[in-house]
Amino acid sequence: MNTGQDNHRLFHRHVAQTSPNPLALDIVRAEGLYLYDRDGKEYLDLIGGISVCNTGHRHPRVVEAIKDQADRYLHLLVYGELIQTPQVEYAALLAAQLPASLDSVYFTNSGAEATEGAMKLAKRLTGRTEIVAFNKSYHGSTQGALSIMGDEYWRNAFRPLLPGIRHVEYNTPEALDAITGRTACVIAETVQAERGVFAPQETWLRQLRQRCDETGALLVLDEIQTGFGRTGTLWGFQAYDVIPDILLLGKALGGGLPMGAFIAHRERMWALTGDPVLGHITTFGGHPLCCAAGHASMEVLLGSGWIEEVARKEALFRRLLVHPAIKTVRSRGLLIAVEYESFEQNKRVIDACIAAGVLTDWYLFAPHCLRIAPPLSITETQIEKACATILSSSDFFR
Ligand SMILES: Cc1ncc(COP(=O)(O)O)c(C=O)c1O
Repeated sequence: MNTGQDNHRLFHRHVAQTSPNPLALDIVRAEGLYLYDRDGKEYLDLIGGISVCNTGHRHPRVVEAIKDQADRYLHLLVYGELIQTPQVEYAALLAAQLPASLDSVYFTNSGAEATEGAMKLAKRLTGRTEIVAFNKSYHGSTQGALSIMGDEYWRNAFRPLLPGIRHVEYNTPEALDAITGRTACVIAETVQAERGVFAPQETWLRQLRQRCDETGALLVLDEIQTGFGRTGTLWGFQAYDVIPDILLLGKALGGGLPMGAFIAHRERMWALTGDPVLGHITTFGGHPLCCAAGHASMEVLLGSGWIEEVARKEALFRRLLVHPAIKTVRSRGLLIAVEYESFEQNKRVIDACIAAGVLTDWYLFAPHCLRIAPPLSITETQIEKACATILSSSDFFR
């Protein structure tokens, strides 16, 4: 086994980097709410792999399902050709937990690929090419998903991108006017996560649904971060009484393995099967190991009672996170943004938390906001410990 020094050197030398300053903690094991580094230091995970590990790290039933499936088969053939039990069972379980109009699941490898598939499906179904997306939205990093990303800083460096994208302000009446008879689809996060947790007004999301119905545009809701109980209901849209035409899932979908999905009515999804045939294809989408893990994780979640506890845990975080350096706390269930004056202040708090054994980070479009999105299984004692650490780390500014 490499020494810690070897690992650091090889990480920086051979693993392609995404930023000049990665956290670079050398984690050797994870379980439940905790990550453990090479020196045995324990980190309480407040970010759950960025809204992935809703049922905690390596839940025993998830690990067992992966091992069981590994003993049967791994990859067999490209997505869609063979009947693979883990895929069939997981798609059926998801459909059973969704409205009847969302009964056909296209499994992908990632959230971004689910976004791509949804955009293609909307174009194919409507024969239109315009897409309405929102400022400060994030739907993935591939070129189609980047085209609808709501931030010019990231988009501009990679032009030319997809034409026909209209970016508008989330949660405003003007946004509704941008949706016309030329709009193929409107893509919105049910709660804007990377903006630092921005929830829309209920009436606005309903008006958005209504405007799509009036114009024949499809409503795509991205629940890649808000799905699987994160916001206090199994799906974020349940709290708004709005049903999308296409639903995007990812992150927690795979129970810790890589997966995404776009979900629509079977008759609509059928459009990808002809003219051209194989309108969207993937080699590994719906990988049997990922489906087995996701299915087990979903069963754990549904049987756990954790979703019902989200509101109480959110309230505890909000009650405890009071400090002169904290400007405000925005939350929707266990998706929480703790706002500081600046990125510099936030970064000092994050670094101090990590040094004290609490893992957190910031939001992409809100670098002055500290991210809290823990496994939903977090206990009250763990919340108290996490908040005490955040507060003592905020004392820099007294
Ligand atoms: C709301 C949302 N949509 C899409 C994505 C893209 O998912 P992936 O990173 O699996 O491509 C993310 C990832 O952070 C996300 O938060």
